[in-house]
Amino acid sequence: MTNQSNAIKFYSGEQIPVEQHKVRIVQKLFLRPIEERKAAMEGAGFNTFLLNTKDVFLDMLTDSGTNAMSDNQISSMLQADDAYAGSQSFYRMEEAAREVFGKHYVLPVHQGRAAENIVSQAFIKQGDVIPMNYHFTTTKEHMELNGGKVLEIYADDALDIKSSKKFKGNIDIAKLNAVFEKYGKEKVAFVRMEASTNLIGGQPFSMQNMRDVRAVCDKNDTMMVLDASLIGENAWFIKQREDEFKNAEIKDILLEMCGYADLVYFSSRKVSSTRGGGILTDKNEYYLKMRDLLVLYEGFLTYGGMSVREIEAMAVGLRETCDDTVINQSPSFIKYAVDNLDEAGVPVITPAGALGCHVDAMGFLKHVPQEQYPAGALAAALYIVSGIRGMERGTISSVRDENGKDILADVELLRLAFPRRVFTLSQTMYVIDRVKWLYDNRELIGGLQWVEEPPMLRFFMGRLEPIGDWTEKLVAKFRADFGDSL
Ligand code: F0G
Repeated sequence: MTNQSNAIKFYSGEQIPVEQHKVRIVQKLFLRPIEERKAAMEGAGFNTFLLNTKDVFLDMLTDSGTNAMSDNQISSMLQADDAYAGSQSFYRMEEAAREVFGKHYVLPVHQGRAAENIVSQAFIKQGDVIPMNYHFTTTKEHMELNGGKVLEIYADDALDIKSSKKFKGNIDIAKLNAVFEKYGKEKVAFVRMEASTNLIGGQPFSMQNMRDVRAVCDKNDTMMVLDASLIGENAWFIKQREDEFKNAEIKDILLEMCGYADLVYFSSRKVSSTRGGGILTDKNEYYLKMRDLLVLYEGFLTYGGMSVREIEAMAVGLRETCDDTVINQSPSFIKYAVDNLDEAGVPVITPAGALGCHVDAMGFLKHVPQEQYPAGALAAALYIVSGIRGMERGTISSVRDENGKDILADVELLRLAFPRRVFTLSQTMYVIDRVKWLYDNRELIGGLQWVEEPPMLRFFMGRLEPIGDWTEKLVAKFRADFGDSL
């Protein structure tokens, strides 16, 4: 059935995202008392990446490698063909990838950033620029390691927190033309479009925007690269928000999107609810540029650093990306959370996008200066009061300039990821409830400062501490309001 939305109209008139699946394997969760959560946060250096999941109630850190797998995926893993070269598992996955993405050459890699490494090494020269809708953390590092410079050319209003704009992930075409004029086409390594643009709140681009970008690339004889890690959700938004596609099948939207790109790469940890990743192209010349790097960094061409079991599950997962009820489950729960929080006055990115609910930490914690990392402080505070683990996407995830000064992020976000088909609606209601409580008690929350700061990708392993005794005050207020409750 096409156009099957999870949102079901209730007798009350409300649209509720009813699960279109049943739960057959479960994992026990632990909700620790708030005092233990505070101690766990201290042990983790106020960095949610460093928490142990035994102390986490709802793990909303990411959807990467944490989406629920289907019964068909799990059962496919039993027929995996272990072989260093020529594994049938690979050929089954290759066939599925060709079918879904519509490209001939399929290069397997162990995860998305491995694809970024190979694409960057193969196509970026010292001094090149790479225009894109927005960067992703690992993407930018790989491009810069290879001598490239990232240029973000989103529309002027793309970073507005409260917005009714349907496609905040669009590339601004006038700015793209200006890049070619300024640098000349020889300096533009390629144009990159990231589906459901991660760091600006999972915001999609439109098909029309892809067509316009393609036209600019054609005019300048430049390659267009698509990061398809969240392509299913972007396709869903195109179907919902772009009139021309309201009756289109997701599989046709996906094929049209990929058709505009010369090279498509993805993290399978997201798109197919497995692990791994891949790179696709139709051009033999591009394939040859990447092939030997792949063997060097990832493994032989028929496994690319992945286990054959994952490759089998990936084949099934890629095909399931064409199922409306699979790809709209996460966006429909995100919309439920975003709409409820927005209604309660909590600053969240609107319209609801893919991947997660994004809370605007600068709007939430107006009294915490950006130099004291409001998004990191909010992530720590939410964990302490709820056991919910989110991810800081703000200045902690940024870098320092050559003078050692923080480059303040454009937006300070607390991302609460909704991995596909993992959480139930009552758990989602718990998230909304605790975020609302925290918002009403936001004055209690203070900032953070570094204790240990790694020089690269510091958000992964860095350790911080609270400035002052705000965590004690937060715990005391929680106990006053909730008594003995967890
Ligand atoms: N591209 C995008 C758009 C991503 O969101 C990610 C990962 C990658 C590339 C890298 O893929 O993790 O398989 O190496 N995003 C994860 C996240 C980490 O939590 O948003 P990877």
